[in-house]
Amino acid sequence: MIIITGITGGIGNYLFNKYFENDEDIIGTYYQNKPEGNQYKNCYQMDITDNSAVEKFITAISAQLENITLINSAGISYNSFAHKANVDEWTKVINVNLNGTFYLTRSVLPLMRKQNFGRIINLSSIVSQTGVLGTSAYAASKAGLTGMIKSIALENAKHAITANNINLGYFKVGMINTVSQEMQEKIKSKIALNEFGDPENIYKTIQYIRETAYLTGSCIDLNGGIV
Ligand SMILES: NC(=O)c1ccc[n+]([C@@H]2O[C@H](COP(=O)([O-])OP(=O)(O)OC[C@H]3O[C@@H](n4cnc5c(N)ncnc54)[C@H](OP(=O)(O)O)[C@@H]3O)[C@@H](O)[C@H]2O)c1
Repeated sequence: MIIITGITGGIGNYLFNKYFENDEDIIGTYYQNKPEGNQYKNCYQMDITDNSAVEKFITAISAQLENITLINSAGISYNSFAHKANVDEWTKVINVNLNGTFYLTRSVLPLMRKQNFGRIINLSSIVSQTGVLGTSAYAASKAGLTGMIKSIALENAKHAITANNINLGYFKVGMINTVSQEMQEKIKSKIALNEFGDPENIYKTIQYIRETAYLTGSCIDLNGGIV
């Protein structure tokens, strides 16, 4: 079973539909935007910052959970220079991107450990390595995922559970659409391949992680060659 959060986002939605079309068992979660369509029948509304809601969700679906791949795609950003930042907005980013990802991971781990198999895959960002003006919360939240998966990889290796991040560059769908056209052109000029990524590349990287038992505690850069 594949569990994927953030299926109403650009990337999460692409991945959900790809797995659905491939006839994989998949359960998706969304937050404020209920997706319409038959393929979303097995999807749940959930705020991943609410640990008790996350626990209830995993308990509710636990009978369906075998060979689990957890794809943590839900995420938010907040744009502000640090000296002007609103502390509540800053904290919200940490709560969704870091704590929410942890709550999901923590809740599925007992099942994965019992079954001696699991794949935990977080959609992280190149911003965790480079920093970008106005993104201290986002960068901190994604950098936190690096330390988190490394510890979780160690704790669970003997149960054949792997934990990895994909450090995404900039993709054609999702969050990029909140960035001005002018800024998008600036970003593109720094990408060796000179274009935003097709989400199919994310799907292929996730498949590689799912199939590669020896890969754990790693962050894979997927960014078209950013200089
Ligand atoms: N797109 C890119 O170029 C890019 C680059 C680097 C990294 N990433 C990472 O890739 C992931 C997916 O990005 P995206 O572009 O698809 O993002 P997106 O289009 O902005 O979608 C964000 C998703 O997160 C969900 N979400 C937000 N707050 C939530 C909460 N409190 N609880 C549960 N779900 C919540 C949203 O649900 P609702 O819509 O239902 O509210 C939505 O499905 C993110 O983690 C992002 O940081 C993306």
